[in-house]
Amino acid sequence: MIWIIGCNGMLGKELSALCVEKNIPFIGTDRECDITDINALRSFAVDKKIDWIVNCSAYTAVDKAEEEEEIAYKINAIGAGNIAAVSSEIGVPMIQISTDYVFDGKGSRPYAETDPVNPAGAYGRTKLAGEKLIAEKTDKYFILRTAWLYGQYGNNFVRTMIRLFKEKESLNVVCDQKGSPTWAYDLSEMILAIVKKNSTSYGIYHFSNEGETTWYEFACEISHAALAKGLIEKEIPINPVTTDKYPSKVKRPEYSVLSKKKIADIFGVTVPVWKESLKKYINSICGRNDA
Ligand SMILES: NC(=O)c1ccc[n+]([C@@H]2O[C@H](COP(=O)([O-])OP(=O)(O)OC[C@H]3O[C@@H](n4cnc5c(N)ncnc54)[C@H](OP(=O)(O)O)[C@@H]3O)[C@@H](O)[C@H]2O)c1
Repeated sequence: MIWIIGCNGMLGKELSALCVEKNIPFIGTDRECDITDINALRSFAVDKKIDWIVNCSAYTAVDKAEEEEEIAYKINAIGAGNIAAVSSEIGVPMIQISTDYVFDGKGSRPYAETDPVNPAGAYGRTKLAGEKLIAEKTDKYFILRTAWLYGQYGNNFVRTMIRLFKEKESLNVVCDQKGSPTWAYDLSEMILAIVKKNSTSYGIYHFSNEGETTWYEFACEISHAALAKGLIEKEIPINPVTTDKYPSKVKRPEYSVLSKKKIADIFGVTVPVWKESLKKYINSICGRNDA
C-alpha cells in the first residue's frame, strides 16, 4: 500500500485519483497528520501495511515564503526529513517531490541532476534543505524535481488562464522566462511507474513534460486548445511582456528547463511532450463544471 502524504493538494489529489483508476491500494493523509510532528507520522504508520511513501505535501506559497521562511523550512525541510526518518524506521522507500527552484535559473541548457544547485529564494532554499535532510535520514529515496505543475485540482497557471480568458478583454503574460510545463497526471504516472517496478535505483531525478516554452507561449497554447474544445467562446489578445514589468519579491528563474535524460534512460519511459499533454488535459476537463 502507498501512503500518499499531502493527499489534498494539487498533485496529491491527482495521484490519489490515478491510484483509484488503476486499482492501486493507497492511504492518504494531509494536515491532520502534520509532517512537522515526527510522532504523528510514527503513530499513523504503526498499524498500517505501508510499502511506499510518496510525499506530495509542501509549503508551496513561493512569494509568501520570503516572509515566512521559518514556517516554509519547518514543512519543506524538517517535515520532509521526518518522513524520511519514518520511512527508514519502517523500512520502506520514499518518493519526494522537489522543484526546479533549487537552481538559480541562469542556465541556458536543460539542467541535469548533477548540475550545481543555487536557489535564488526562500522556497527553493527550504526545498533544497529538505532534499539534503532526506538523503541524511534514509538511503531508500527518490527525489523527483519537477516544474510548472498544473492539473485539474488546486490553483495553477492553466486553470487561472482559462478563468481569465473568460473574465478579461486582454491579458499580459511574461515572455522572458523559459521552462517546461508538467501535467500532474504525467507526474503521477511516473511516480506509479517507479512504485510498480519496485525500483531500487534510488537518487535524484528530474521530471517535467518534454520541450520548452515561455509563460506567454504556454498561455497562447492554452487559449488555442481551450477554444478548440469549446471551453472558451473566443480568444482574447495575449500580450507578451517582460518580467521587469511585474515587480516581485521573488526572483523567478529565467531558465528552468530540466533534463529528463536520466529518468528516461533508467526507467525506459518516453516523457510526454508538453503540448500533447496540455491537449489531453484540456480534453479531460471538457464537460466539467469546475474546469
Ligand atoms: N505547483 C508547482 O508548480 C510545483 C512546481 C515544482 C514542484 N512542486 C512540488 O510539487 C509538490 C506538490 O505540489 P502541489 O502544487 O500539489 O502542492 P499543494 O497543492 O500546495 O499541496 C500541498 C499539500 O500539503 C499540505 N500540507 C502543508 N503543510 C503540511 C503539513 N505540515 N503536514 C501535512 N500536510 C501539509 C497542504 O495543506 P494546506 O493547503 O492546508 O497548506 C496541501 O494540501 C510539492 O512538493 C511542491 O514543492 C510544485
